[in-house]
Amino acid sequence: MTLTDVLPSLGRSLHTKLEPDVWPRSTVATADGLSIAGISASELAARFGTPAYILDEDEVRRRCAAYQAALPGFEIAYAGKSLTCRAVLRWMAEAGLSLDVCSAGELAIARAVGFPAERILLHGNVKTTEDWKAALEYEVGRIVVDSLDEIEQLGSLARHPQRVLVRVTPGVDGHTHKAIATGVENQKFGFPLRDAMTAVSAVLAQPGLRLDGLHCHIGSQIRSVASFELAARRMVEFMGEIRDRHGIVLRSLDLGGGHAVPYLPGEQEFDLVGYAQRVQVAISYTASSLGLPTPRLTIEPGRALVANAGVTLYRVITVKGSYVAVDGGMSDNMRASLYGARYLVRLAGRNSRAPLRTVSVVGRHCEAGDIIAADVPLPADVHAGDVLAVPVTGAYHHSLASNYNQVCRPPIIGVCDGYARPLVRRETEEDLMARDVG
Ligand code: LLP
Repeated sequence: MTLTDVLPSLGRSLHTKLEPDVWPRSTVATADGLSIAGISASELAARFGTPAYILDEDEVRRRCAAYQAALPGFEIAYAGKSLTCRAVLRWMAEAGLSLDVCSAGELAIARAVGFPAERILLHGNVKTTEDWKAALEYEVGRIVVDSLDEIEQLGSLARHPQRVLVRVTPGVDGHTHKAIATGVENQKFGFPLRDAMTAVSAVLAQPGLRLDGLHCHIGSQIRSVASFELAARRMVEFMGEIRDRHGIVLRSLDLGGGHAVPYLPGEQEFDLVGYAQRVQVAISYTASSLGLPTPRLTIEPGRALVANAGVTLYRVITVKGSYVAVDGGMSDNMRASLYGARYLVRLAGRNSRAPLRTVSVVGRHCEAGDIIAADVPLPADVHAGDVLAVPVTGAYHHSLASNYNQVCRPPIIGVCDGYARPLVRRETEEDLMARDVG
């Protein structure tokens, strides 16, 4: 028996009960459908159009505070690649977080809100001349180097001693989708442990660079705390080897991001408290057994801070058999196509007493694979004009969005305490034409 078989017999209450864990906390099932931060989905859709990314400001702030409370003493650097816009970076700056940027473009937005340069790390496995120039001009605090070429390039460009971290690939499997697994060997990121000493020596040989510490990022959407623990241990052991070889004690260790979030109800939350305890114990135990001081720890969560604060609203354009087609698709949600990610969908603009039936919510793009959610239960009377909501779209949705089929990218609408405002406006045909210079 499937979920869809069971649900209709349970009647209306299930249509209105909100699934736990995936929605922003301010989301409420009301007599009219769904409301987020005190504003109904129907009103949001009417005022701002669809598709629209709704972002709950308090949820982002709450998640930042939860990280700070769980990991006192850690530096928390928001990974801007998950969602960068001025408002979000301002919230991160106000919360006292640091920021991990991976391009001149992300840095430009950080600069626009005056994000303190000393709290910025520039990272990215390939840095172009524009990236170096932007980072050095703004005097970002640290740069993570990823190849011998980069060490040479940065060494020749840096005017003041630039603090750097060397990215190491600790050979740890995070048990995640292979497209977002970066801790294993034989992929493009960082230096595998067997080559990392060469990189350290190369940095030390550059008078323009000051080696601050090491960096690793084993992948994204990782649930296994044991994988982080193992990576942390290996990194500290390598710090011991650096001390033995070069006689220097590195003070800082950046363990990257990658903490998983639930996308579907019932999926396990990341064990942040367990992470905090186990990683700290692993590091201090390994450091003390090697006679090293415990390094200052940085982490770079992106998804964990913003994913569950985001909800995408769509309008149904047509229902054809078991396909419910909406006005967005793979141009605003690449994750389903790229990683086979699964999503919950909910009727958001009204309630229905109709029994549930299994449908696939599909997009407007010219590809059979443009499916937002396959085989999900929705009320059987869903029809053109209905507003649907898809939760957990705050991270890697707007940042992966495209103009495929010359479809304009959706806005990001910030909601807080009954107020809604565009943080990023909807893209227009004028925007498309402005780039097309003929
Ligand atoms: N630090 C580094 C060096 C990274 O490469 C990443 C993500 C992060 C931190 C943040 O990871 P997070 O905490 O957000 O998992 N588009 C994919 C995810 C790609 C992650 C890329 N790097 C997705 O939608 O699942």
